[in-house]
Amino acid sequence: MSGPAATLDLEAIGFAEGAHVLLRRALGHLRPGARLGVRGTDPALTVDLAAWCRARGHRVDCPDSAPDEPVRAWVTCGHAESDRWVGAERAGNAGPTQLADAPPAHWGLAARGALIEAGGPGAPYDLGQKERVWADIAPMLYAQAAAAQWDPATAVPWGTEVELPAEIESAVVQVMTYLVENEQAALVLPARFLARIHPHFREVLQLLAVQAADEARHIEVFTRRATLAGNMLGTSSAGGRLSLFTLLSEPDFSLASFLLSVLGEGSFLSLLAFLDRYAPDPVTRTVARLARHDEARHVAFGVAHLEHQSAMDPGLRGRLRAAVEHRHDALVATAGLNEDVFDALVVLAAGSWEPRAIAAGSQAVRQLEEDMYVGRVRRLVRLGFPADEAAELSALHTRNFM
Ligand SMILES: [Fe+2]
Ligand SMILES: [Fe+2]
Repeated sequence: MSGPAATLDLEAIGFAEGAHVLLRRALGHLRPGARLGVRGTDPALTVDLAAWCRARGHRVDCPDSAPDEPVRAWVTCGHAESDRWVGAERAGNAGPTQLADAPPAHWGLAARGALIEAGGPGAPYDLGQKERVWADIAPMLYAQAAAAQWDPATAVPWGTEVELPAEIESAVVQVMTYLVENEQAALVLPARFLARIHPHFREVLQLLAVQAADEARHIEVFTRRATLAGNMLGTSSAGGRLSLFTLLSEPDFSLASFLLSVLGEGSFLSLLAFLDRYAPDPVTRTVARLARHDEARHVAFGVAHLEHQSAMDPGLRGRLRAAVEHRHDALVATAGLNEDVFDALVVLAAGSWEPRAIAAGSQAVRQLEEDMYVGRVRRLVRLGFPADEAAELSALHTRNFM
């Protein structure tokens, strides 16, 4: 026989008040086969104790109750409490360094670094490999993004008197209408990928979530500017919507992020800078500037993620090239940019209907297209494309800009 049995006095505490916490702690110190005497005055103690022990493989014996018997039940430890964690594993390290290259699906939604009990469900994350989703810049960009959130209600000088000539106001409304349509695509796309990425890469999920929230704010402020003077919204072209449809129908995360962030949002950086420069009123200028700051982050993540991936996967550039060509072929019969948007940009840059001003506005829009083209070439070169190929691909990008 072993030495004197251990005892635990629960006093008046029942299972509803946490008796199991004390029991688990006491049993955790015992070897299998050892006995624990349990004392306590809760009327339901023996019933609850029996159920709790049965579920965990411990045996319970209740002595004949006698007024002078302080022990109400003897628990024989069936297996060590720590046995539950046999076969458990750590879900990697908590921090963003030393990420797993291919975290198992059964780590699922567990916190990164948690001790994972064996036997959970295998959750279906088809984007489960580090090289397909990660960029080392993601944690830093997420922190920046969280700190840079602005309030649409107060960040824009909505109270400013905006009284523009009717045709200039219409041009602003048309551009805002176009922006809202494109922002909606930019919101939906990261949101669709979010649920497919393994939560082990949580900074990427957090970053994409904030990116979607950024786009939600852009939609809000562009809509609010469009309707500021009480006008109806402008037009939406079939070609523009087809361009965005080809973007949203790309199922591969890296290719979609290339088309959206590197090429599309990259082009929008130039467009928003153009609107900042030629805005006819402070509200238009502010919404363009606020959106541009956010877009710069979206582009930075897209470029960093693809740079990372292209360094690991020499075949990537061929697939990126094919994605641009495929999209170009799908859009070749469409007009590309909505003519109403093009003309509105000319009018905004012109600032008046003087023929010479319109000529200067046209020249400014041609310069905008050149700036977009050059920006795309620069980003493509960063991804490792030779200069001539980067130039060719930049020219094949959708005329809808996004
Ligand atoms: Fe946006
Ligand atoms: Fe964006």
